[in-house]
Amino acid sequence: MRAVTTVVVRVPALWGLLRRPVAANFDRLAAGWDASRVDERRLGAIGAALAAVGPAPARALDLGTGSGAIARKLSERWPEAEVTGVDVSSQMIAEARRLSSSVRQTFTVADAARLPFPAGTFDLVALNNMIPFFDELARITARGGSVAIAYGLGAATPIWVPLDRVERELARRGFEAFERFDVPPGLALLARRPA
Ligand SMILES: C[S@@+](CC[C@H](N)C(=O)[O-])C[C@H]1O[C@@H](n2cnc3c(N)ncnc32)[C@H](O)[C@@H]1O
Repeated sequence: MRAVTTVVVRVPALWGLLRRPVAANFDRLAAGWDASRVDERRLGAIGAALAAVGPAPARALDLGTGSGAIARKLSERWPEAEVTGVDVSSQMIAEARRLSSSVRQTFTVADAARLPFPAGTFDLVALNNMIPFFDELARITARGGSVAIAYGLGAATPIWVPLDRVERELARRGFEAFERFDVPPGLALLARRPA
């Protein structure tokens, strides 16, 4: 996944060729994902970034939700928020629905490169160990909203984009107020879209 991530961040147009194999790969991993790849240590960085978000989001999106771990974290922190989890893998979405803890959570099979939501839908967009599609991130984040992006094993995460690159790409699209979180072994970045 490291090579795929590097290629797609450099040339997003190539994602069209890679979407099917990536979805098939995560379909295969879905059944064991939550038990083997999700633990509090790896969620420390995204947790720190979410703790710095304010005010409470009304609508939050977990992009590349996998088995829904971050969607569940969002609901724990903001029980009133409408939380949407999106993943390109239908088997991951089935797992996320099975493990869902709240009636305010919705899980949808969709592609982060081309999301089925109007511009400015979400007050908060979270990505944990996920390939960022920067144009779509900027489009779906509401004015005054935030993006939290984390890599649970820092630079050793298979899907990893250096945070300097993430910050540069978001800054080019008008984001500001960048904050970094170093919670070993993870790293995270929080950014805000101006109101
Ligand atoms: C490494 S897993 C992380 C899952 C979850 N965020 C976590 O921390 O446990 C990456 C997830 O992103 C999904 N994904 C990759 N590219 C995607 C895309 N373009 N749109 C939606 N989901 C995508 C994969 O199917 C996979 O479930």
